[in-house]
Amino acid sequence: MKTSVFGAVHLGYLVIETQRFSDWARFGTDAIGMHRDDLGSGVMRFRLDDQECRFLLRRGPAEDVVATGWHIDDHASFEQIEARIRAHGVPVVRGSAEEAELRGVERLLRFPGPKGITQEIYTTPLKSAEPLLMVSSGWVTGDAGLGHVAITSTKPERLRGYFDTVFDARLTDFIDETISGVKLKVRFLRVNERHHSIAVAAVRGLPIDPVRTRVQHLNIQADSLDDLARSYQRVHELGFDMALSVGQHTNDKELSYYARTPSGFEWEVGWNPIVVDESTWEPATHQGISIWGHTPVGQTIIDKLDQFRLGARSLTRPEKTVPALSGAPGPGRRR
Ligand SMILES: [Fe+2]
Repeated sequence: MKTSVFGAVHLGYLVIETQRFSDWARFGTDAIGMHRDDLGSGVMRFRLDDQECRFLLRRGPAEDVVATGWHIDDHASFEQIEARIRAHGVPVVRGSAEEAELRGVERLLRFPGPKGITQEIYTTPLKSAEPLLMVSSGWVTGDAGLGHVAITSTKPERLRGYFDTVFDARLTDFIDETISGVKLKVRFLRVNERHHSIAVAAVRGLPIDPVRTRVQHLNIQADSLDDLARSYQRVHELGFDMALSVGQHTNDKELSYYARTPSGFEWEVGWNPIVVDESTWEPATHQGISIWGHTPVGQTIIDKLDQFRLGARSLTRPEKTVPALSGAPGPGRRR
């Protein structure tokens, strides 16, 4: 019987590979409202709080999130996770001193993850002595971690299995949704008090993936409704594309909007999601992603045709998985 690491795992940072540095600088600093540090030689970082790095942008062709970094509370849990991965025969690579420094962390390890998103774990985030210089008043991180990532998948059970094996992720709930006649099922997984750190969206009954990027969207949580509204306004005024207008989600009740990043995936800014109480929580299935709002902005028939084209192409390109870590959840565990 393995000791659970649930609650000791927090989404800590994301690594983004892009060539569009000047657009990203404007998007992150002037529109979303984060603190930016230019490190030179093709490296830019954004901060949300006292941690040195929440987003690491490095030059490269992917235009995508290429790695997710998870903060592990204590060395025992860290070693437990490392041992699990090794026990399944999956390679674990120690990050170099330079890689750890870029991410502002200590004790960095990396291993393969679903859809080719490298998974990284670390024990200690480095704190910056520099005060935050940003137009937002603040962001909610703490025990709930950075926010969440949403991934589309043709193999949702494998993703569920992977995050169960590695982090003891729990199923929070499901959403069934129909978009443009396509039925989707979304699984929401949590690793701490945050309603979800990972969302997995799958087209029901068809092995197609309608999204080019590995991550469909990521989410960060604004401190106040005022911050949410002002950043929404800035995204518009600075000419960045809005994907979905302000709305409220059915399951975590978060108020949010979705902007399109210079790399093409979406960036959700949210406010006031519910926090899960482990003593009473029961998974449920919600109908539709939103109670109100979240209306597509400026979507054309060309965009819809593009989605079908991408979906069709995904039929011929098998999704990357890590089979050794993606087995079904063990007995007694909720699916
Ligand atoms: Fe989200």
